[in-house]
Amino acid sequence: MQNKVTKAIFPVAGFGTRFLPATKSIPKEMLPLVDRPLIQYAIDEARAAGITDFIFVTSRGKSALEDYFDRAPELESALAENGKQHLLDRLKQTEMGSGTVAYVRQHERLGLGHAVWCARHLIGNEAFAVILPDDVIDAETPCLKQMVDAYATTGGNMVATMEVAPEATSAYGILDVGPGSGPTLSVRGMVEKPKPEVAPSNLAIIGRYILRPSVLTHLDSIKAGAGGEIQLTDAIAREISEKDNVHALRFRGKRYDCGSKSGYLQATVAFGLQDPELGDEFGAYLAEVMAARTDDPTDARQVQLVR
Ligand code: UTP
Repeated sequence: MQNKVTKAIFPVAGFGTRFLPATKSIPKEMLPLVDRPLIQYAIDEARAAGITDFIFVTSRGKSALEDYFDRAPELESALAENGKQHLLDRLKQTEMGSGTVAYVRQHERLGLGHAVWCARHLIGNEAFAVILPDDVIDAETPCLKQMVDAYATTGGNMVATMEVAPEATSAYGILDVGPGSGPTLSVRGMVEKPKPEVAPSNLAIIGRYILRPSVLTHLDSIKAGAGGEIQLTDAIAREISEKDNVHALRFRGKRYDCGSKSGYLQATVAFGLQDPELGDEFGAYLAEVMAARTDDPTDARQVQLVR
């Protein structure tokens, strides 16, 4: 098939300072939503989109991530001896085929663009995906699969986008798009974290990309931009000015910013409610909490519940 995408880069070298002190010794990507770490959601989404080669850009202190994708022979034999087949089945989702995972190190945290650039020698001359695991997207058709399907027609480069509140533009990369009301839009420009009064739209770039290898060549010469970091959006913007081949997909689904505490808690609630084993009990508890919030706020037990 033309425009096939088989490699994905997972930049996971950030400090995750918004989750300190937890992230002092646990990579942010290992924080669980119910029982699966964020990185597992990203891997499952990539697999569903046909990705076969997984490239992690890591840094010091991220060895828990590497261990997570390794076999755990002692644990596996203990579970097998105790007849815990259902737990062994759960462990299976962490299995990666030999030679399908590569780790490259980002020695200095110089920004997302730099992290992606660190994987350049593993990409070669083909389009690749970038997935930021802290953006968790709950969707019937996984977001990257939606993008790969759209990309099969458009080619070029593709970013995932969603509308944000106009006053929130300064927290995102924001798109300037051509006319059109369909899910796929042509991108005329992108600005990193603009103030609402100068933002070209309220369409934000979310952590999913399909990129041409030429983006890596641009990154060779991109200097630090917004926030003193080497920005991936600056390299994609160069594709627009040179080749006008960048598209945005308004994906169907709900995105949770699990890099922020509030987004992480919202995702925990959403996935907790969807869990076949926990959902009913957890939902009943949440209903109780919400009811307590609207009742007498001076009741000590209720105040304790909402705290
Ligand atoms: P963030 O902006 O969320 O930074 O990075 P962070 O360090 O992970 O978290 P905070 O802001 O300190 O809480 C977005 C993505 O880019 C990766 C991060 O790992 C995350 O997946 N990243 C960022 C790198 O891999 N290297 C960098 O130099 C910067």
